[in-house]
Amino acid sequence: MTIEDIKFVQNFKKITNDAWLKGWHERNGGNITYRLTEEEAVAAKKFINEGSAYTPIGVTVKNLANDYFLVTGSGKFIRNMTVCLEENAGIIKVDEKGENYKIVWGLINGARPTSEITSHLMSHSIKKEKTNGAYRVIMHSHTTNTIALTFVLPLDGKVFTRQLWEMATECPVVFPGGIGIVPWMVPGGAAIAEETGKLMNDHDVVIWAHHGMFCAGESLDLTFGLMDTVEKSAEILVKVLSMGGKKQTITSQNFRDLGKAFKVHISEDYLD
Ligand code: 13P
Ligand code: ZN
Repeated sequence: MTIEDIKFVQNFKKITNDAWLKGWHERNGGNITYRLTEEEAVAAKKFINEGSAYTPIGVTVKNLANDYFLVTGSGKFIRNMTVCLEENAGIIKVDEKGENYKIVWGLINGARPTSEITSHLMSHSIKKEKTNGAYRVIMHSHTTNTIALTFVLPLDGKVFTRQLWEMATECPVVFPGGIGIVPWMVPGGAAIAEETGKLMNDHDVVIWAHHGMFCAGESLDLTFGLMDTVEKSAEILVKVLSMGGKKQTITSQNFRDLGKAFKVHISEDYLD
C-alpha cells in the first residue's frame, strides 16, 4: 500500500486533473489545499515524517493548530499532479500556535507549498470556524471568463453576484452567499490573504481582479462544482455581452420565487 491508495489522495488527484482539463491551470497557475480529517491523518501516519523544519505562515491561524493539509507545490503544474504527486504536492502540518507549518510528506527535491499558502490557510481558518469544521477545501484557479469580466464589470461584489446569478437559473442556489471581490493586489502574501479572509466571512467565492478565483467548500467535489458553476456563468455573460448585451433576463421577483421553491435564502441585498 502507498499513500496514493488512500481515498482523499485519489480524490485530490481526480480534482486536479478535472481542473486541468477545464483549462483553468496554465503552467503553474492555481493551487489547491485540502484539510485532512482525523481519520485520514491516522491513515496517512505511516507515510509521514515529522522531522522537518518549521516555516512561518505569515498570519496566525490558531484554530488550525496541529491540522494536516494536502497542498499543491509552488511553481508546480496542476496537470502534473496525477503524473507524480510527491514531486508536485505534499502534506504540511500546522504547529501548536498556528503560526508555522512544516512539510511532513511529499514536495520532494526541495519543493515548497504553493506561494498562496497564506491566503489558503487564512481562508481555511475562517471557514473552519464558520462551518464548525465542515469546510475542508480551498481552491484557487485562473478561470478565463471570470478574469475577463474583471476588466469590464465594476469591481463590486454586488454587481458580480447579480450579473452571474442572472446567467444561469441555479446559480443563486449554488452560491446564495454571493461573491466577494478583491481589487488587484500583489499575490502571494499576508496582505492579499487578509483581504481574501475578510470576504470569506460572508462568501464561498472570492474573485481576485485580473487574476482568478478562490472557492471554499466542504469537499473537493463541491468546491470544484462551485468553481465550475461560477465560471460557466461567466462564460455565458461574456457571450451575452459579445452579442450586444441582455434583451431580457431573470427578474428580482423570479429570484424570490426560486428561493421559495428551492428553500434557499436569497438575500435582498442582491435584488431590487
Ligand atoms: P504557485 O505555483 O506558487 O501555486 O502560484 C500559482 C498562482 O496561481 C499564484 O497566484
Ligand atoms: Zn494565481
